[in-house]
Amino acid sequence: MVHKVKKAILPVAGMGTRFLPASKAMPKEMLTLVDKPVIQYIVEEAIASGIEEIIMVTGRGKNAIEDHFDRSLELEHHLEKRGQKIELEKVRKISDLCDFWYVRQKEPLGLGHAILRGRDIIGDDSFAVLLGDDVMYSDREPVLMQLIETHLQTNASVVGVQQVADSEISKYGVIDPQNGDHPPKTVLVKGLVEKPPLEKAPSKLAVLGRYILTPEIFYWLEKVERDQKGEIQLTEGLNMLCKESPVYAHDFYGIRYDTGDKLGFLKATVEHALRRSDLGNEFREYLSSLRPPVDRRKHGLGSLEH
Ligand code: UTP
Repeated sequence: MVHKVKKAILPVAGMGTRFLPASKAMPKEMLTLVDKPVIQYIVEEAIASGIEEIIMVTGRGKNAIEDHFDRSLELEHHLEKRGQKIELEKVRKISDLCDFWYVRQKEPLGLGHAILRGRDIIGDDSFAVLLGDDVMYSDREPVLMQLIETHLQTNASVVGVQQVADSEISKYGVIDPQNGDHPPKTVLVKGLVEKPPLEKAPSKLAVLGRYILTPEIFYWLEKVERDQKGEIQLTEGLNMLCKESPVYAHDFYGIRYDTGDKLGFLKATVEHALRRSDLGNEFREYLSSLRPPVDRRKHGLGSLEH
């Protein structure tokens, strides 16, 4: 019998070296897109997809994430006293989003290792994994919900994929798809390769930050050998799993932003700001004015000219 997916693991224990120095004393998952931390967008996607319990895999220096999803009585009291009702509601809503569990990954030994840390809480249920720096935007169903629907149809593990440019392939886990009589957006996976050079990539379909996994994955992750960096890769666990049980790739509808990467973060910031009803129009006008000549005074910016 196929059960609904109610639990999700969010690994947030990585070092965020691509975002130094910002990530030295602050988790990169707490960087904000306009006024909301990256991790809150991801939690909201999970909840909108039917997730009820979230297991955060955290590490040293990640306390700000725990605090963000906890109640802040002092702040609530302060806002109440000042009559700032809208702000008060926003702050309260965050801690009421769902049930959170926190488990520690003492050393960042890879995504596979991080997921193994959630094993006891997950138990025998299929579960979702959402990477803590991949933000998705969809104007239809949330991306995770699309994957859950494929899982409910197939009763198998499902990885979210999209086609990426040749120059990007070597940054991702890439699937070897089997052509068959499956719906066009969903394909059976024959194998996966982690960060292949372009000439060795089995396809252009990269795994992008969203997974639905059956609990069998834990058995295979225990068997994965550490790579040259001493890490346990989820890609290798999935590669083993797909030789024994069906694993599907779902080419999801939506835009994915890699906010752990500087350029990806900038793109996410600009596009999220442009979509905001309170800021979008003014921000769009400002951006178009940046094409020379820039009228800095009109936008309340100082001038460098004397
Ligand atoms: P990344 O590889 O993007 O994160 O992992 P990183 O290792 O922090 O990044 P760089 O390369 O050093 O800049 C994707 C997600 O998985 C988590 C990260 O926190 C991130 O949200 N992760 C990664 C873990 O929880 N544990 C790990 O051992 C590795």
